[in-house]
Amino acid sequence: MSKGARALSAATHKLQFLIEWGVDNPEYFDHEIDLYYYWPATRNSLPMERGVWSSFALKEGGSTLDLCCGDGFYSKMFYSLRSSTVTALDFDPEAIRWAKRNHKAANVTYILGDIRTDIPAGPFDNIIWDAAVEHFTPKEIAALVARIKMVLSPGGIVSGYTIVEADHGEKHLHQHEYEFHDKEDLARFFEPHFKNVEVFQTVYPSRTNLYFYATDGPLPHEKSSHLFVRRGRSIAAK
Ligand SMILES: C[S@@+](CC[C@H](N)C(=O)[O-])C[C@H]1O[C@@H](n2cnc3c(N)ncnc32)[C@H](O)[C@@H]1O
Repeated sequence: MSKGARALSAATHKLQFLIEWGVDNPEYFDHEIDLYYYWPATRNSLPMERGVWSSFALKEGGSTLDLCCGDGFYSKMFYSLRSSTVTALDFDPEAIRWAKRNHKAANVTYILGDIRTDIPAGPFDNIIWDAAVEHFTPKEIAALVARIKMVLSPGGIVSGYTIVEADHGEKHLHQHEYEFHDKEDLARFFEPHFKNVEVFQTVYPSRTNLYFYATDGPLPHEKSSHLFVRRGRSIAAK
């Protein structure tokens, strides 16, 4: 029975994927398609990986702003349990409608707005800008990082994920304004505003992903050092 139920769930989510992506890829995505169809079909765990890396940056019980929240999956499923409040902003009315309907939680507020003009005053302890930095031009990214800095609490942290440009020169999605050359190309936007910036990458067969943390306080690995026990000799990276 459970095998049949799983097959049915995978089939319905695959159908949803084919309908939604058939004509053109949408700008936002229902991540339940990832859970029930795309992840099992491809073994690509990126959708979960990015939720985990941004969660790792969260100040426990802090106020969180989720920029370009899309379907609201991450706002609820990754950030809301460990935040006092989550304010989630997107300029697509359909995405906000979807988020309110499918990822409602008592401490999550979904707001329709363009982040170029409508970022709330805050202050916020955590700002997440995930899978969306690449939807802006370099000039817009620079202005947005300056605005983000203004609405972050002292010592607050901005985190997120974006993508490295493909070797073939084509954009991964046509909605992307700017895909990054490499880690340094992303770090340069945060360095003028933050004392501590960390960018790292994960490599999948079809893409290289970039993760970033920027803060005037300690970076997540430093802040969470009490959570780790380390033994043995470490190898210094060149
Ligand atoms: C690839 S989706 C990522 C959504 C979500 N962060 C996630 O990880 O699933 C990019 C999102 O950015 C939103 N977006 C693009 N430009 C925006 C803008 N200027 N202001 C607000 N949202 C924007 C789109 O509507 C879309 O939901």
